[in-house]
Amino acid sequence: MDQAAQIREKIDIVSLISEYIPLKKMGRNFTANCPFHNENTPSFVVSPERQIWHCFGCGKGGDAYTFLMEYENMEFFEALQALAKKTGVALKNTGTSFATDKKQTIYSLNKLAAEYYNYVLIKHSVGKRALVYLDEERGLNEKLINTYKIGFSPGSGEALSRYLINKKKYKANELIDAGLSIQRGDRIIDFFRGRLMFPLIDHRGNIVGFSGRSIADEDSGPKYINTKDTLVYHKGSMFFGLNIAKEEIKKEEFSVVMEGEFDVITAFKEGIANAVALKGTAFTENQALLLSRFAPKVAMCLDKDSAGLMALKRSIPILEKRGLFITVVDYPEKDPDESIKKSPLEFKKAIKGQVEVYEYLLELLISENDIETASGKKRITDEMLPLISVINNEIIKEHYLKKLSEKINISFDSLLKQIDKKAEFVEEKIIVKKQKGSRREILEEYLLALILQNGNPKEMLIKSNDFLTNYKFEIPAIEKIFKELMSVINAKKFDIKIISKNLASELLAIFDKCFLMPLPKFESVQIYEEEIIRVMKEIKLIFLKEEISKLSRSAKDEKSDEKIEKIREEISLLTSSSPKI
Ligand code: GTP
Ligand code: MN
Repeated sequence: MDQAAQIREKIDIVSLISEYIPLKKMGRNFTANCPFHNENTPSFVVSPERQIWHCFGCGKGGDAYTFLMEYENMEFFEALQALAKKTGVALKNTGTSFATDKKQTIYSLNKLAAEYYNYVLIKHSVGKRALVYLDEERGLNEKLINTYKIGFSPGSGEALSRYLINKKKYKANELIDAGLSIQRGDRIIDFFRGRLMFPLIDHRGNIVGFSGRSIADEDSGPKYINTKDTLVYHKGSMFFGLNIAKEEIKKEEFSVVMEGEFDVITAFKEGIANAVALKGTAFTENQALLLSRFAPKVAMCLDKDSAGLMALKRSIPILEKRGLFITVVDYPEKDPDESIKKSPLEFKKAIKGQVEVYEYLLELLISENDIETASGKKRITDEMLPLISVINNEIIKEHYLKKLSEKINISFDSLLKQIDKKAEFVEEKIIVKKQKGSRREILEEYLLALILQNGNPKEMLIKSNDFLTNYKFEIPAIEKIFKELMSVINAKKFDIKIISKNLASELLAIFDKCFLMPLPKFESVQIYEEEIIRVMKEIKLIFLKEEISKLSRSAKDEKSDEKIEKIREEISLLTSSSPKI
């Protein structure tokens, strides 16, 4: 048995998935709201019997490995390592996949780079000015600098590249792939030059990239530059500081979301350890998903300027879509960094007194507009209605609509009417696309589900195989599964569980889906069988009708009239008599 299979045997998928999301027992399976798309009724199913999972809402599914790959965004080899550790299996020296290798190389390079930058900042004369800046102007001591692994990139242009190539024996290409170096003609130079360096560390502790802040005087390029997208760093998919804040976020049951690196570090210095930084943008869906894993509430604490307010408003639909509860920390001063420095106590009070985001925005709009005039009322509703309309929870939604209605003295009904008109402006509705498929495709999956979940799958299979001679499945994978099943039909032990282990992986997905598909309750074995017959009859009829129209289209073929006649006969037989199976 290979190592992956050996580890799979030892893992209990129910307890593994329970570590991430709450599962509820439902018959012989467990269910939950799917972590991979937003939903209010559970369509995520886990089978302890077969150690698999499947979501009937978004179609994702698989085993323990694929769960980790999806949920933690791991490569297969990373998932293998994680599960090996859990089960105490020592991995033999296996080759890793190409992509995993490349990722590991980037992580190692980033780690070396961070150590190098940190050394330059703290120990080298080149970092002196940056160190003084951090100490005198930003109030960062050495302990904080090391907590966040802050460093300084020399301005000379190739110091890091040379170090990694000459001393650490990495290749120029690897440095470029990591985003640490760039090619200039035939020279390899450092991407970050003369900047304060903040490593960007994911919640699992990998350094995925860097953010570099200029400390030169004005007009010397952008204040911040970030690593360009690499195999491990994707813009808008992580937070600065989450690696440090995640435990505290779980404990406090909310995260504080700020704009910048310095905001978070200053907060941490004053004992506010559940803060992370968006790095100057609005939330992306990936970020909302990531944060929702640690706590259900997000306290928005962006800069108090127009950019901060805009980012707040743009973030609301994205956070709502993830079902997150949103509040605002209304602190004094321009940004958290300044506010905390001025008065840590005032800032902490603001965190304690955080208000629901809709409350905050409504008050803000009322203070900015004349609520007695029609145009004032219009401006307020133009801003508020699109935001209120995306609120997930109907109670909270109605609460704010009522409040808005009272505050500006406009009837509840008019507000509702206006929401309907505005609906098209609202960002992406909170609807998961229903999986599409032709009627025949849907029925083919249903048929396979009926057979696999039947008390006597072997007999059902033999009967359906007889009935469906000459039938061609619209879903090729199901056709193959039927063939595979029929090829072992006479095996000593016809066991679905054992058969599934030998299925090719591309067939397994649909096999699992059908195995887990929720079925109606059948009163008796006979009614169950009648349902199978009904479904087979219907798919066969659709198939035959499709055949006829295909044949009539290619009527040049001499024999096709004859064929059509034959099919017609078959159809009338099918529709008149109940097929014998
Ligand atoms: P500090 O002086 O470094 O504390 O910044 P600030 O508070 O004056 O900056 P601001 O509020 O403008 O920026 C907040 C965050 O946005 C920063 O921490 C960065 O992560 C990001 N940011 C700011 N300027 C830039 C820029 O020019 N480019 C990019 N990519 N990000 C930036
Ligand atoms: Mn700021």
